[in-house]
Amino acid sequence: MRKIQDADVKNKKVLLRVDFNSGIEGGDAKEAFKIAAAKETVSYLLEKGAKVALISHLGRPEGKTDPEFSLGQIADDAERIIGIKTKFVDDCIGEKVKIEIGGLSPREMLLLENVRFYPGDETNDEVFAKKLSENFDIFVNDAFSVCHRNQASVTGVAKFLPSFAGLWLQKEVEEMEKVKNNFVCPAVAIVGGAKIETKLPVIKFFEEKYDFVLVGGKIANEAIDQKVNFGGKVVLPFDFVDDRLDVGPKTVEKFKEIIKSAKTIVWNGPMGKFEEEKYSSGTKNIFESIISSGAHIMVGGGETLEILEKNNAMDRVSFVSTGGGAMLEYLSGGKMPGIEALES
Ligand code: 3PG
Repeated sequence: MRKIQDADVKNKKVLLRVDFNSGIEGGDAKEAFKIAAAKETVSYLLEKGAKVALISHLGRPEGKTDPEFSLGQIADDAERIIGIKTKFVDDCIGEKVKIEIGGLSPREMLLLENVRFYPGDETNDEVFAKKLSENFDIFVNDAFSVCHRNQASVTGVAKFLPSFAGLWLQKEVEEMEKVKNNFVCPAVAIVGGAKIETKLPVIKFFEEKYDFVLVGGKIANEAIDQKVNFGGKVVLPFDFVDDRLDVGPKTVEKFKEIIKSAKTIVWNGPMGKFEEEKYSSGTKNIFESIISSGAHIMVGGGETLEILEKNNAMDRVSFVSTGGGAMLEYLSGGKMPGIEALES
């Protein structure tokens, strides 16, 4: 990937793709971690004398302007978490952006309105991508978690501007490579949550490479019901709580025993319906055994991060990926057009 360290950004107007796609609770961003991920790249660019405008999506507004999905709601969080005065612009293309980026002072950044208010983002419309590029000299992508999307603000704009990977994106790729190709055995993957069709490729990948794949949550039920054929390294739950809404105590013991000996752990997805207290025990037990394993631990996926955040355990693991779908895609060898667009 072309890296920002190789770009001359002095006095350049930089369009920086971040992922501030976060739930909002009581006026605050729930996934502060995603905002913090942009901090290093923003500081780097400002120190080097660039003018920076951050662009992101928030939710899925389906190409329409909708205040419920306005990034204006995140501007205060961005200013507080990144520590840079933030001016919100209620558009991401056109005159307003041109005027604001031109007049930006050195210790300020812009946060542009939700790029998905325009349908051309998700359809990767070339005319829209060009409009996105027009007010800028350089494009920097720092949003690993959208690199599996072929969208105007991820890949389209890279056709019109010199494009580089930000520091966070570089770090994510490095960490993904560690657990994908450069891991220490015994290696254990723990995969839970919902949607077996999105998780099967990654289970198959780990089955080939790792010593064990522990499967829990809704996908375990789906795999059992669909009689998916796994080899001996994949361990499915064999006892449950209530209507299979949590893994049972015998399964928890078996999983804990395997986790204890691991030197590498990748965890994505809860073991049951953890948001309801009575079905949270399996996930809690597995979470505790993961963080006390002493292994190299990589964690990803929205719900999994929620568990870490709730338990103040973000710094008890080796690396927290911002990617849910992107992490699964990367690890299972799927297409990452956002990364390909930055390759020379
Ligand atoms: C995520 O939350 O995983 C990313 O922001 C991607 O969002 P999307 O699935 O709506 O493209």
